[in-house]
Amino acid sequence: MSKPRVGWIGLGNMGKPMSTRLLEAGYPLTVYNRTAEKAKELVSKGAKLASSPKEVAEASEFVFITIADSKSLIEVCLGKNGVIEGLKPGGIVIDHSTVSPEASLQVNEAVEAKGCKFLRAPVTGSTVLAAAGTLGILCSGDREAYEKTLELFKILGKNQFYLGGGEESRYMKLALNIMVGTTCQMLAEALVFGERAGLNWGQMLEVIAGSAVGSPLVNYKAKPLTNRDYTPAFTTRLMEKDFDLALEIARSMDVSLPITALTRQFLASARATGKGELDFSSLVLLAEEMAGITQ
Ligand SMILES: NC(=O)c1ccc[n+]([C@@H]2O[C@H](COP(=O)([O-])OP(=O)(O)OC[C@H]3O[C@@H](n4cnc5c(N)ncnc54)[C@H](OP(=O)(O)O)[C@@H]3O)[C@@H](O)[C@H]2O)c1
Repeated sequence: MSKPRVGWIGLGNMGKPMSTRLLEAGYPLTVYNRTAEKAKELVSKGAKLASSPKEVAEASEFVFITIADSKSLIEVCLGKNGVIEGLKPGGIVIDHSTVSPEASLQVNEAVEAKGCKFLRAPVTGSTVLAAAGTLGILCSGDREAYEKTLELFKILGKNQFYLGGGEESRYMKLALNIMVGTTCQMLAEALVFGERAGLNWGQMLEVIAGSAVGSPLVNYKAKPLTNRDYTPAFTTRLMEKDFDLALEIARSMDVSLPITALTRQFLASARATGKGELDFSSLVLLAEEMAGITQ
């Protein structure tokens, strides 16, 4: 049986490795990225380049999206030459981005109006897991569409979770990122504390990674931090976006998130001091600066 035609919109840090996996698994792939340059590698491997999200939707039975935020999701879906204009009845649109439930709901209504289905499928894990196909996929939306997409999800992720028929996965993803960001701030403070006391940097990271607090997240970050490598897997700017989403929703639900709110201030400060496009682990750099430590 021939494989279904797949489209991918947004070839950033996540979209590129994820879409590459589908291409390498033999799915005919059409791609679009606002900055076309970033599509070059995929095109050289056999993907077809589209000139708009509309063109991707016209060419595909499954349309995957990995773009920055709520605003860009609305733009690529509902804007001029957007996904909605190109969708054919029966199509499935899968959004892996981390966006607000409101934006998601708006896109869902437009997709449904075209006789198609919209899966909200934010992912857990970063670029290394994306390339290895071991992400966690948190999906909510139409159950039947989820079952149809499962064979593709299995190429992208090791664990798939079906969380419900609506926006459940949006909330789940933000709950996780609250923990990722606050954990990183705690790590930053512990490291700077030890550094000022004269401990060996690399050894500190080795001890922390192998201890009871050495979560998979801490272990992923241990090596780059040892090398003081802040090449972005997930940028400070995008982490700040997720904290804003979580805090806004929490306010609307009368839930107080004091540690999240405080950590958000460090993210803002990191961005304001030129670390917005670095990995969010540059919270460590900020903590060093705040302690007057320079390398
Ligand atoms: N990186 C991670 O570890 C990670 C993990 C889980 C979830 N996520 C989420 O996944 C999404 C993508 O993350 P990423 O790290 O891949 O981000 P990224 O590297 O910054 O890529 C963002 C993508 O969005 C596109 N984009 C931004 N604004 C746009 C607009 N107005 N119209 C069209 N395209 C637009 C960019 O196009 P250009 O190339 O033209 O700028 C690029 O393709 C985000 O929602 C993020 O929160 C990321």
